[in-house]
Amino acid sequence: MTTIDNGSGTRELKGKRALVTGGSRGIGAAVVRHLLDAGAEVLTTARSATGTVPEGATLVAADVRTRAGSETLAAAAQEVLGGVDVLVHNAGGARPYKDASAIPDEEWQDALDLNYLASVRLDSLLVPGMRERRSGTIVHVSSAVVPTPVGPFLHYTAAKAALENYSRGLASELAPFGIRVNTVTPGKVATPGGEATREQWARLDPTQGGNTATVPLGRVGQPDDIAHAVLFLVSDRASWLTGSNLVVDGGEFPRG
Ligand SMILES: NC(=O)c1ccc[n+]([C@@H]2O[C@H](COP(=O)([O-])OP(=O)(O)OC[C@H]3O[C@@H](n4cnc5c(N)ncnc54)[C@H](OP(=O)(O)O)[C@@H]3O)[C@@H](O)[C@H]2O)c1
Repeated sequence: MTTIDNGSGTRELKGKRALVTGGSRGIGAAVVRHLLDAGAEVLTTARSATGTVPEGATLVAADVRTRAGSETLAAAAQEVLGGVDVLVHNAGGARPYKDASAIPDEEWQDALDLNYLASVRLDSLLVPGMRERRSGTIVHVSSAVVPTPVGPFLHYTAAKAALENYSRGLASELAPFGIRVNTVTPGKVATPGGEATREQWARLDPTQGGNTATVPLGRVGQPDDIAHAVLFLVSDRASWLTGSNLVVDGGEFPRG
């Protein structure tokens, strides 16, 4: 039974082993904190081992853009946790360019590796264990700008679009094994990465970049807003949810 500590004093993820990519700051750090509060054991990663992570979590240095980084992380998860029940693919991002034609080849590849292929590779290493146990939950973190792609971010939005499509397909494939796969899609969130990207975009295009006055609910998101959605999806309260995409954006980017 997985449940979340929702203020009633229960620790609903007790006994669960969680792996979160990119947990040293921003949304990932909030997800790590919430998982710990809910009683899970948590391993996380960032490129530098000197990064700080919420107390109680274990940090392993690994670059998820590479196959070698994914293998390091999967091996560490086996050694430290003994397996993974909850997998949150959070590491992601990309810097903006003036327009699509200014995005260099290597940045397209980098955006694909970080925002899409990192999930594919790590899933391929950790899903077999989940299949054997016939249980597990996976969350992929996308971006609310996918349906309205713009030139400066096409490398990023195209990679996140691929991620959403992949996540939905993986959900179908793994449902018969009792493994749930969902996507959480943030809008504008106040994180070091999000703020830096919006500042870079504002320098390239002062009319577009950095504009946060457009959020209908009147504020940018906080990392906790996204972590709440992730925690819901990995808990048994979402036990009939798979292949879904939970958009958490203050109402700014309607879909469908
Ligand atoms: N913030 C927003 O407004 C926003 C909006 C939509 C979607 N998102 C998505 O939400 C997720 C988290 O964003 P955030 O704003 O919290 O990012 P952030 O503040 O930049 O934090 C990113 C985290 O990922 C780690 N990381 C980055 N590259 C990595 C790599 N190659 N290998 C391993 N770890 C890596 C970073 O540590 P190191 O740098 O030390 O590696 C850090 O811990 C991303 O997928 C992003 O695309 C964010």
